[in-house]
Amino acid sequence: MKPLIAGNWKMNGLQSAKQEIERLIEKFSGAAPDDRDVLICPPATLIAGFAANYSDEAIQIGAQDCHPETSGAHTGDVSAEMLADAGAAFIIVGHSERRADHGETSDIVRAKAQAALRAGLTPIICVGETREEREAGEALNIVGDQLDGSLPETGAEIVVAYEPVWAIGTGLTPTLEDIGDMHDFIRSKTPEGTRLLYGGSVKPGNAGEILAITNVNGALVGGASLNADDFYPIIKAAPGAM
Ligand code: 13P
Repeated sequence: MKPLIAGNWKMNGLQSAKQEIERLIEKFSGAAPDDRDVLICPPATLIAGFAANYSDEAIQIGAQDCHPETSGAHTGDVSAEMLADAGAAFIIVGHSERRADHGETSDIVRAKAQAALRAGLTPIICVGETREEREAGEALNIVGDQLDGSLPETGAEIVVAYEPVWAIGTGLTPTLEDIGDMHDFIRSKTPEGTRLLYGGSVKPGNAGEILAITNVNGALVGGASLNADDFYPIIKAAPGAM
């Protein structure tokens, strides 16, 4: 399976952030390698400009959220069709920050994933347990419930990202064995061929060992994706010829 290294910029980045993409492309000496997919999900304000300028350099551009409906009276929201029109190829749905900050339930996440598919885009569906849930031995149950509730029924491509909430932005990560166990479990509950990403404090120093785990098919990177000097070695760490 071709690894997918995705950067989630969250609410970071002004127009001037295009310099980081240009620095990344320079490091690739012009074009990203074709044995791995590289994706950047900037804030919505940057999607159209980035997609117009960089998609043919083999960096794909994605969104961080969408509304489930196509259009209508939803002030401030953006639909999957609008994101497709702006040039996005993927949409992250159900990130834990949206589940927590916006009260998104698995039902809502599934509707958003369906919206991405309806617009011809690939949803990256996020799941993950809190620290309390892991300490209570409930991590597999919680993630299992999230998968049951959030995954759309489809024959089209989806991506699933396992992001333990307690590992996001903290510098903490599960043990390699715990990541492997969770990914084996997610593999057993997802359609064949689904790429499974790990996210949560992926850095240049740990990317190689995480990306080498069976059933880890890429990474969803927050903080370290904002800077080409950190993101490039993570992209390079994915197995392949690069
Ligand atoms: P960090 O890489 O900053 O821990 O963020 C992970 C994340 O939430 C990506 O979606």
